[in-house]
Formats: sequence, structure tokens, C-alpha cells
Amino acid sequence: MNQDEKKKRVARAALKEIENDSVIGVGTGSTVNFFIEALAARRGRITGAVSSSESSSARLRAAGIEVLDLNAIDGFDTYIDGADEANRRLELIKGGGAALTREKIVAAAARRFICIVDDSKVVGVLGRFPLPVEVIPMARNYVARELVKLGGEPVCWRQGVTTDNGNQILDVRGLSITDPVGLESEINQIAGVVAVGLFARRPADVLLIAKDGGIETLTR
Ligand code: 5RP
Repeated sequence: MNQDEKKKRVARAALKEIENDSVIGVGTGSTVNFFIEALAARRGRITGAVSSSESSSARLRAAGIEVLDLNAIDGFDTYIDGADEANRRLELIKGGGAALTREKIVAAAARRFICIVDDSKVVGVLGRFPLPVEVIPMARNYVARELVKLGGEPVCWRQGVTTDNGNQILDVRGLSITDPVGLESEINQIAGVVAVGLFARRPADVLLIAKDGGIETLTR
């Protein structure tokens, strides 16, 4: 089974976690795009969705699903999103699609975060995937120098990418992240950092992993 087939399979598995007439959170990326497709095709309806990016909002609206302002609701139950990397403690690297800041906000507001990945994303130690950091543009070089001091090298600026919040992304290579919570806190302290794509202080609650043999479910 190829990676896209696994993404579709895990997206369909996530549908079983969604209740009719509920508000859900929707992440960003190709796995989530399969989820939106499956959501649009199923019989029951949801009330609406809080979205983590302009691109997901456009897809949701095209599927006839109302996009809700997070400020206009009291909270919601379930957030569905993919990841670039996951460990078996359900800590994640996200931000390959540059949506990490809004993804973090939606994950923080959700009562339950269900992360959907194919098995190529599961690692023992996070850091094989370059760690995305969203920065205020004027702070880019300063933040890059600070990240090098933390052991990242080299730190590349994602060319031609402006986030939905008008910021830029630094991709930090060469990290072996043995203390995800500690590193997330340290990077959060650097002036000019908007968000780091480490989801360890607020990890997933459920990790659905698509494999050749079916879906593996990990919970915290
Ligand atoms: C976007 C993300 C995505 O969840 C991550 O990049 C995974 O994407 P895909 O499902 O396309 O592999 O964090 O910012």
C-alpha cells in the first residue's frame, strides 16, 4: 500500500471519531485533505468546523461545511490533524505546511486531539524532519542564530513562503530531540518566535497510524 492510500485509510478511520451535530477542529495538509473529502461524502452532518489554515477553510467551504470563528464558540470536542513526525509518546513535529501556529491554537482549544499519520511518520526520536519555527520577519536572522546555539544546523529560511499570519518559517535541521517538552519551552522563549512546530507540551491524545495491516491506535 502506498503512502497516499495509507493517508486515505487513516483519514477514513478518523471519521469514526466524529459525532453528528458537533463542532470539530480541522488541521492542514494532504492527510487532512483526504479527511475533508471523506467528511463531505458521509451521510451525517457536523455543525461546523474551526479551521487551522486558509487552505483548509477553502476546502471546507467547497465541501459545504461552515467554517466557524474560534472566538465565537465556547469550545469543541475533537481536533483532527496530521503531522510530519510522531513518536510513540504522541509528541509531534508539525508545520511542514506552514500552518503550525494556527494548528497549535486549535489543538490547545480542543478537548481531544486526534493525530492521523501513515507509518512512515513514526520515529523513535523526533528531529529527522526539519523543525519548523514561525518567526516575525524582522527577527528572522536573530532567531536563526539563537537556534544554532541550541544545536540546530544549518537553519534554513523557507523561501517564498509567507504564513497565513504574514510571517516566515525557519526550518531547523540536525536536531536530535531527546527532550521535546524542554526544547519547545526553550524555543518559545526566543524573542521573535511566534510558534515552534514541536507539539510536546500539548501532544496528541490519540495517534492513529495507518499501516499495511490496518490502523494502529495509540492513546495517552
Ligand atoms: C501542516 C502540518 C501537516 O499536518 C503536516 O505537514 C503533515 O502533512 P501531510 O498530511 O501532507 O503529510 O503540520 O502545517
